[in-house]
Amino acid sequence: MSKSFVEFARKTIFVAGCVFVLSSLALAVEATTSSSSGSVDEVVLGDPSLTSGIPGYGLLTDSQLDAWLANEDNHVTLKVALPKGLDTASANIYIPEDNPMTRAKIELGRQLYFDERLSSDNTISCASCHDPAQGYGAEMKFGVGVQGQEGGRNSPVAFNRILSKEQFWDGRAASLEDQAVGPIANPIEMGNTHESSVKTISQIPGYVKQFEKIFEDGLSIDNVGKAMATFERAIVTGPMPYDAYNQLVAFEKAFADDLEYLDEEPELEEKYNALKEDTEEYPMSESAVRGMTLFSGKANCTACHAGANFTDEQYHNLGVGMDAETPDLGRFDVTKEEKDKGAFKTPTLRNIAFTAPYMHDGSQSTLEEVVEWYDKGGHKNPYLSDKMKVLNLTEQEKADLVAFMVEGLSGEFPYVSQARLPN
Ligand code: HEC
Ligand code: HEC
Repeated sequence: MSKSFVEFARKTIFVAGCVFVLSSLALAVEATTSSSSGSVDEVVLGDPSLTSGIPGYGLLTDSQLDAWLANEDNHVTLKVALPKGLDTASANIYIPEDNPMTRAKIELGRQLYFDERLSSDNTISCASCHDPAQGYGAEMKFGVGVQGQEGGRNSPVAFNRILSKEQFWDGRAASLEDQAVGPIANPIEMGNTHESSVKTISQIPGYVKQFEKIFEDGLSIDNVGKAMATFERAIVTGPMPYDAYNQLVAFEKAFADDLEYLDEEPELEEKYNALKEDTEEYPMSESAVRGMTLFSGKANCTACHAGANFTDEQYHNLGVGMDAETPDLGRFDVTKEEKDKGAFKTPTLRNIAFTAPYMHDGSQSTLEEVVEWYDKGGHKNPYLSDKMKVLNLTEQEKADLVAFMVEGLSGEFPYVSQARLPN
């Protein structure tokens, strides 16, 4: 993978982080004013108060933890909204009825997510392969677990998971709850057993207190999964240039005949100006704007990367890895249906610039390589998706598509503390 690309991505994350601190201040103010009603706590996911840890500095103390747990506000079921941009997918939010989101549960899940004590040799946490500093993925081909062991698939991102029901490249986990406890017992990931990780947690009084207050049945492996899933649901991507431009383009299309006469329609004019201001706040180069048109036009990427999270949540064969001697058959291993051979779940493309290398096997190291793959129509094999076509893109069009993904699809991550775990 190109080193300069990684550096570029790191810098961009840093800049995005700074922008975020500013915009999150505004969000935090909104959240405090709207939660005053008492029984319902309405909050926009991404709000740093959800993921910045139990208030305080330095090591987490018993009295801070007790005060946190005693505050009933932290146990109220949250009514969550998505940040601007992603919010057009709100209808797809999936939170199981038996695992409502609360501030205390998100916080417990945060601690567990970063806690290496859940692995067999105290070296690996979820963040080892889904690292906030690496776009919630990992900058290597395959996930590397305890004792340096490698799996056979690339680490997908652990954000915007609230919009997906089925998890993994092949969708074999029916929910985030099911998914979350898998890695603990996977011999080449965290290499532990559920029994022994629960035992470890039971010896950490700060954890026991939290499980007992948050769950009726206290500490169990299922509740570990519920807490981690709840934390993951709180990790969502913030507004990005695409969101602003997409709204402007939609407006211009809907009111094409009226644009000349907007001065006669003050309300519309105001709306139009506000949308234009949004694009100034989140600018894209001309190349990226052309790429956006190609993405849903000539390049037909929206055939699968559809909607606000850029995925149809379906499984497709692009031919990736199909030339191997014994190809990874992906979805087929779950359904045993012939048509699913070599098919993998369409991943989100939000913040895609931060999560190289690409594809289920990490075989493509840059976005340029990915675009070349699509330009030639993928890799021919008997199960290739009929949506894969030779695109005949010009060099400029290829560059435009990459520019769109890098500039248009990069947004803010929530602020997440990685410290202050219980002792
Ligand atoms: C050793 C690296 C490694 C560790 C540790 C790890 N993961 Fe993963 N994770 C992966 C890989 C690789 C996949 C994809 C596996 C597959 O699809 O078969 C994955 C898949 C996922 C997915 C599915 C995402 C999607 O889009 O479907 C989620 C969510 C996830 N992991 C969360 C976690 C959590 C929570 C933990 C900690 C309990 C964790 N992971 C620990 C490497 C890791
Ligand atoms: C037929 C459905 C389909 C179409 C059309 C499609 N994609 Fe994909 N895309 C997928 C699937 C499925 C994967 C994962 C495939 C795999 O790993 O085997 C993927 C993976 C990717 C990845 C890597 C994501 C990651 O996290 O590793 C990028 C980037 C990408 N697509 C961009 C595009 C662009 C740009 C276009 C248009 C030129 C496009 N896609 C068209 C379904 C599609």
